[in-house]
Amino acid sequence: YFLGRRQGVLAAVVAVLMVTIYAVLNPGVFAPSMADTPELSLFLWGAFTILTAFVVGTLYDMKTTAVSDLKQAYEGILEILAKFIDAVDKYTNDHSVRVADLAAKIALVLNLPNEEIENIRVSGLLHDIGKVDLSLEVLRKASSLNDEEWAHVKTHTKKGRQLLSPVGGLLRDVVPLVECHHENFDGSGYQGMAGEDIPLGARILAVADAYDSMITDRPYRTGRTPVEAMSEVERCAGSQFDPVVVEAFKTVMKVQAERS
Ligand SMILES: [Fe+2]
Repeated sequence: YFLGRRQGVLAAVVAVLMVTIYAVLNPGVFAPSMADTPELSLFLWGAFTILTAFVVGTLYDMKTTAVSDLKQAYEGILEILAKFIDAVDKYTNDHSVRVADLAAKIALVLNLPNEEIENIRVSGLLHDIGKVDLSLEVLRKASSLNDEEWAHVKTHTKKGRQLLSPVGGLLRDVVPLVECHHENFDGSGYQGMAGEDIPLGARILAVADAYDSMITDRPYRTGRTPVEAMSEVERCAGSQFDPVVVEAFKTVMKVQAERS
């Protein structure tokens, strides 16, 4: 980590080592005119390789900075997008951010790899993105929805897929989670997928989304208390929700309760 440029220094060490070994085995090969001063020859070659390593290291640092800037911009844009999604359905203030946070914690308890946890967190931020394409009149209706309106709202998972699919790249693995976040473990959800056919991330999102929706006030009903919402989630383990995910959710809640 000398000079703070790991790859550069590694390259320098290896290069100097190779030159030294070669020079010791074949004195005079590099600079015949300086064969009588091998120290000077070695010094020049050493300086050259360290300079090369310095350049490599600097380029590496520049690339690392660019990647970190891009990542920061990406995360910032996602947060803005999540706030925009929540603003569309104005009664769900910061709902997506809370769902993302809870879903990531459940994924962590389930020991999922970091990359998968990040996909689940991002899908929490974007899970309702399809709602931006729905009628505001229906979304902001101050009373229960009729069947036709519900059918309209239910299209938001497919609309979410349509919106996110062309983005590809980093969001490729997020799309199926967004599309399946209203699937039920027993097959009674939007598309009728069941059990492990539903991506694990989507099963996690379903629990986080339902819990947060239950504790949030709506114009036509008051939110439940966290304890009530938790026992409702527990009651639906095996029917609406994956029991394994519900267990992880309970662990998250227990840890949070102990900390507060
Ligand atoms: Fe949704």
